[in-house]
Amino acid sequence: MSTLPVLAQPGLPYAQGPISAEVIERLGGRAPHNHLEPVWVPLRDADPFGLDVQLALYICYELHYRGFAGVDADWEWNAGLLHLRSQFERIFLAAVRREVGSIDPEADTAEREMARLSTEPADGSGPSYHLRDAGTWTQMREYFIHRSLYHLKEGDPHAWLIPRLGGQAKAAFVAVEFDEYGAGSAARVHQQLFADLMAAADLDPSYLGYLDAVPAESLAIVNLMSMFGLHRRLRGAAAGHFAATEITSSPGSQRMVTALQRLDAPEACVRFYREHVEADAVHEQVVRHDVVGDLVQREPGLDADVVFGMRAFGVMEDRLANHLMTCWRDGRSSLCRPLP
Ligand SMILES: [Fe+2]
Ligand SMILES: [Fe+2]
Repeated sequence: MSTLPVLAQPGLPYAQGPISAEVIERLGGRAPHNHLEPVWVPLRDADPFGLDVQLALYICYELHYRGFAGVDADWEWNAGLLHLRSQFERIFLAAVRREVGSIDPEADTAEREMARLSTEPADGSGPSYHLRDAGTWTQMREYFIHRSLYHLKEGDPHAWLIPRLGGQAKAAFVAVEFDEYGAGSAARVHQQLFADLMAAADLDPSYLGYLDAVPAESLAIVNLMSMFGLHRRLRGAAAGHFAATEITSSPGSQRMVTALQRLDAPEACVRFYREHVEADAVHEQVVRHDVVGDLVQREPGLDADVVFGMRAFGVMEDRLANHLMTCWRDGRSSLCRPLP
């Protein structure tokens, strides 16, 4: 059974500090006629990976997706707010670059990086390994919540890349996205499959239903892809990010299937991940050869950016994995608002 597609706009979240508070307060009013009226917040001591900055950035990006109920749609292209967003992006991107470290254009090619991503350690220690071997149903439901921000808009953040590609890379990229969007069937749109998973796990399937519940690490994962997708100059990183997502998805999804079967989870929960085991094994090949292969052949100057996108994906995933494993090892909830 399919839950009805939820197209309602989310409400604005609660502030998590002075920066997000300022953005939320502004959005509560009409966008000013004078586009150049600056929106100013003190960013000098702000932590680029902290919850306050990540939430403020998430809110700015969300104006390009569904917006928020009651928020003036004109804010989307308000120059004052875009200027503020660019400052969040500047400190966030700089922090991601620091974490990724230097990339040697001779040794670190996109092709080598994809080959490296394809070989998974058999004895990994991340959340999907833990959930497969020993995780509880409560931890599984927390995991769904962290992932809900992305999976309920799956496909969308990468879709900004379409107009920036050409030739075979564009054709192959759209073929993969076609599957993410259900190959013509609304019931099979991956966003919908995840909404079905949430409902089956007795969780709120609404879009951004858990925006107030997740930590900075979960927001940063989606912010990274929105940032890459929305900037043409970062198109190489967006393609690399997309490739890393597809390459790592199939084995990770297999672990989730095993975990969910061990926990005797509802069929709709298993279905979402089972769909990704098979589809992403195919997507991986298409992305490696036809998307990234074609793109770097066409624009060799983007090769290092593609590697950066793949590594940035890994950095963000590791940050969330560390958070989850630390919380679960300590026997506490990984959410800001624990499940009842
Ligand atoms: Fe998918
Ligand atoms: Fe996929």
